[in-house]
Amino acid sequence: MAQIRLDKYLADMQLGSRSQVKQYIRKGLVTVDSKVVTKPEQKVDTDDSEICLEGKAVAYHCRQYYMLNKPQGVVSATVDLRYPTVVDLITEKKRSDLFPVGRLDVDTEGLLLITNDGELCHNLLSPKKHVDKCYYVIVQGKVTGEDIAACEEGIDIGTDEQPLMTAPAKLVIQHIGMVCELPERLQEIVQKQGEAELVSQVYLTIQEGRYHQVKKMFARLGKPVLYLKRISMGSLVLDENLAPGTYRELTKAELDCLQQ
Ligand code: URA
Repeated sequence: MAQIRLDKYLADMQLGSRSQVKQYIRKGLVTVDSKVVTKPEQKVDTDDSEICLEGKAVAYHCRQYYMLNKPQGVVSATVDLRYPTVVDLITEKKRSDLFPVGRLDVDTEGLLLITNDGELCHNLLSPKKHVDKCYYVIVQGKVTGEDIAACEEGIDIGTDEQPLMTAPAKLVIQHIGMVCELPERLQEIVQKQGEAELVSQVYLTIQEGRYHQVKKMFARLGKPVLYLKRISMGSLVLDENLAPGTYRELTKAELDCLQQ
């Protein structure tokens, strides 16, 4: 139960800008519990008050949670002048204050949580919380036991002037083989990166979220990343039924697990 201003209630529900909804209220178009209210600053209850605009009920949606399978070519931001953003992909949003939890590079695919819950975002991204992020990665060349050990020990992804060791990460080899063995869509993506023939499909689990971290780690191992997709973040696992570019709301069970 939360008390908020009537104009904020309507603006939160995307019925107009703050000044537009103030106009609606002053014109007498808005009722609260069946009574016309003309003061934008009037406090209403997000759970209990019945708000109508021109006779149409306006329900309040507080926290929103969407699982997006981010496609390539879309930026992890709320606004961008060059590219479409991940928030643009949420076409049926009930709130205008959504943002992505963390960032994936423009050419990275996979799991991205889109929400307006700042507290959950902090809990998932704070380095102190040690939340696992698992990536499916296709890299050029043959990943070895030495690479696994190097990830476990930590890799310096810094510069000569400023070394930067990664925390221990878990590398698991799924398959080593030829590009032609990959599904057709992945073959196309990989072939755009160059002439690779032998590739390794691996899962890398990290608990940090440094800039370009996965790409930098494999670059140091001499195995450039050809395709990167986030599979999970904490308890939240990408729904395999979501094609790149599509999304759905989190289930109650998924949300409960994430909030534990
Ligand atoms: N690491 C990267 O290098 N890129 C991403 O998008 C995510 C993790």
